[in-house]
Amino acid sequence: MSDSYKIQVQQTGDTFECAADDAILRGGQRAGLGLSYDCNVGGCGSCKFELVEGEIENMWEEAPGLNPRDVKRGKMLACQCRPKADSVIKMITMDEFVPQTNPQRFMAKLEMIRDLTSDIREFRFQSANGFSSFQPGQYALLNLEGVEGGRAYSMSNIGNEDGTWDFIIRLVPNGKGTNALFKLSEGDEIEIDGPYGMAYLRTDSSRDIVCIGGGSGLAPMLSIARGLDAAEGMDDVKLHLFLWCPWSQRHVWRRRTQGAGTTYRSLYLLSSGIDSGDGRTSRLDRLCWFCS
Ligand SMILES: Cc1cc2nc3c(=O)[nH]c(=O)nc-3n(C[C@H](O)[C@H](O)[C@H](O)COP(=O)(O)OP(=O)(O)OC[C@H]3O[C@@H](n4cnc5c(N)ncnc54)[C@H](O)[C@@H]3O)c2cc1C
Ligand code: FES
Repeated sequence: MSDSYKIQVQQTGDTFECAADDAILRGGQRAGLGLSYDCNVGGCGSCKFELVEGEIENMWEEAPGLNPRDVKRGKMLACQCRPKADSVIKMITMDEFVPQTNPQRFMAKLEMIRDLTSDIREFRFQSANGFSSFQPGQYALLNLEGVEGGRAYSMSNIGNEDGTWDFIIRLVPNGKGTNALFKLSEGDEIEIDGPYGMAYLRTDSSRDIVCIGGGSGLAPMLSIARGLDAAEGMDDVKLHLFLWCPWSQRHVWRRRTQGAGTTYRSLYLLSSGIDSGDGRTSRLDRLCWFCS
């Protein structure tokens, strides 16, 4: 078996070497090609492709990103397929998907774990090769021993020269990846693969920014707040963060956003009545607003 195979994109004629243990999508991104994608974990279907010639192995046949019609038409997901031979594929490529930084796979040591709430933790990893280059708002895949497929997590810091990658992660009951992650101890090593993602801070636009998320969804919002602070010529851009959280946690989340970017002008904490004792669970009943 060869270590890598040559993949050609039929429409553009672009070719790239894809390692035998790598996904077609990620191999193409590593080579700097704009293969279309979004989630990278088999869920969205944005990376659909057709095999014209060659041989491909599907790593996750049941991935929800394909509907029965896609399967019938021979479509596959480039984030879930790896090459078994030199191949030609038909797949959408666009300039907007060309990576700002070509993603890498690298080992990283868990430097710090901090509990934010009973089921949400911050993790700080240090890359072994010092690599930490990404756009504010992007994500990376964490590859965990014994867990099939990488898990996507947004960075909460910004690219730096220290090699650090920070994440805010919620433990999912019975979730394979998060249960493995929450068993890690400081000093343990995992493989990180990134950066990926199109929902990153654009510094060529002066439009105001609105970010909406809940709980661990604060991670990319913090990264964008920090990125905005660090960017030149963005002082007039207003950033509004809307964060959904249980009412009892409002001070935790407010503290977590303080000092994480002075540029954001407004933090709106939205809470349902889940733990407010009034029995209401499904509608917005509290809104508090903080100005930085
Ligand atoms: C772009 C993006 C950014 C995210 N950022 C964050 C974040 O900052 N913080 C956070 O807490 N969560 C984040 N998530 C959610 C996170 O990726 C996980 O889905 C979540 O933590 C549950 O993982 P789990 O392994 O515990 O659950 P599981 O139910 O075991 O796994 C669910 C995930 O694993 C994938 N998967 C399951 N089985 C396989 C398989 N056999 N092969 C390949 N893939 C498989 C699924 O597509 C799904 O993504 C993000 C998700 C995406 C797509
Ligand atoms: S990028 Fe979402 S399914 Fe492949």
